[in-house]
Amino acid sequence: MTRTWNQTRVSEVLGIEYPIIQGPLGGLSSQKLTAGVSNFGGLGSFGAHGLEPSAIADIIAEIRSLTTKPFAMNLWVSMEDEGARFSDEAAFRRAASRLAPHIAEAGGTPPIFAPYRPLRFEDQARILLDAKVPVFSFLYGIPAEEILVEAKRQSIATVGTATTVDEAKALEDAGVDIVVASGFEAGGHRGSFLKSSEDSLTGTISLVPQTVDAVRIPVVAAGGIADARGIKAALALGAEGVQMGTVFLAAEESGAHPLHRQAILSGQARHTALTRGFTGRLARGIKNELLTELEKPGPEFLPYPLQRTLMKNLALPAQKAGRADLLALWAGQSANLARPSDLQHFLASLVEDMFKTDGLPNR
Ligand SMILES: Cc1cc2nc3c(=O)[nH]c(=O)nc-3n(C[C@H](O)[C@H](O)[C@H](O)COP(=O)(O)O)c2cc1C
Repeated sequence: MTRTWNQTRVSEVLGIEYPIIQGPLGGLSSQKLTAGVSNFGGLGSFGAHGLEPSAIADIIAEIRSLTTKPFAMNLWVSMEDEGARFSDEAAFRRAASRLAPHIAEAGGTPPIFAPYRPLRFEDQARILLDAKVPVFSFLYGIPAEEILVEAKRQSIATVGTATTVDEAKALEDAGVDIVVASGFEAGGHRGSFLKSSEDSLTGTISLVPQTVDAVRIPVVAAGGIADARGIKAALALGAEGVQMGTVFLAAEESGAHPLHRQAILSGQARHTALTRGFTGRLARGIKNELLTELEKPGPEFLPYPLQRTLMKNLALPAQKAGRADLLALWAGQSANLARPSDLQHFLASLVEDMFKTDGLPNR
């Protein structure tokens, strides 16, 4: 019997019908989006890295009330940059000075320094293990051996993210079940952990086949995939599934602000760029005025996650003032392929296009 495109090891290991993963959208995930994708037969993911352990437990319970299908909870193994604990008020003032004119323009108040309160990956991971989530995915590193061993014992599938072939090999060696090969087209953060993000900027079409050749575990392609053409290309390169993020940000169910969704859907997303200015770590977003400003020479950004916290002082007034030009508009290079659509309709047409032989999406 011949296999259809959706019958891959990724579908098998994750227990899903279609090897289409809605990528975690840390900070902009929603329980509804996660459950909606899982109910359809893909894998919905929830990006929980910014949340207190108790909040993560509540979200898992809520997702479980919305779906009985497998879903993923996603964390960041590395939660802070070196120097975050020692960064002082003087550094805060210098970094804030760059934002001051924009905050004032948006009608906000000057940021106030507050001591850093770290969140620990290990405490967050404990919640995922105790809740026996179906899938535990992660970025920025490899969890300690005891966490991976416990996940295996609880039959929790593990999905790690690699931005280079060496990272994929390290994840396989550690016993991770599936590796996401994330090309530099992807929206959001570049989760590199062996070399710097700037030194790990391989594109999807190059990274996926080299990863497939280097590891035996199934590979999921991520970065720049927005329709059935992208999925077919990824499968042709040897991937056994795809992870898409930006197109799901555009869905009404996502946690993205309407100004953000509108920017993706209105043709403003033709030009994206990488910056450390949004959070302190390298990430891709639409090249609007804010990103352009942040890339100009100026005071140093704070280490992650302090820069992220600082930027909230601009995000909140900018949202209120309807100023998309002053918002961090996370998006990947294929954002412009996103179309306004209802989530279920989008997924149904994606799958329909995948079963068509010509491979061209319905327009
Ligand atoms: C706003 C945003 C937040 C993201 N947050 C996370 C995250 O917390 N963890 C993670 O593993 N990947 C995260 N990603 C990556 C996506 O899950 C996905 O791999 C990526 O978006 C795929 O590339 P694409 O944007 O071209 O579709 C994020 C992406 C975006 C756009």
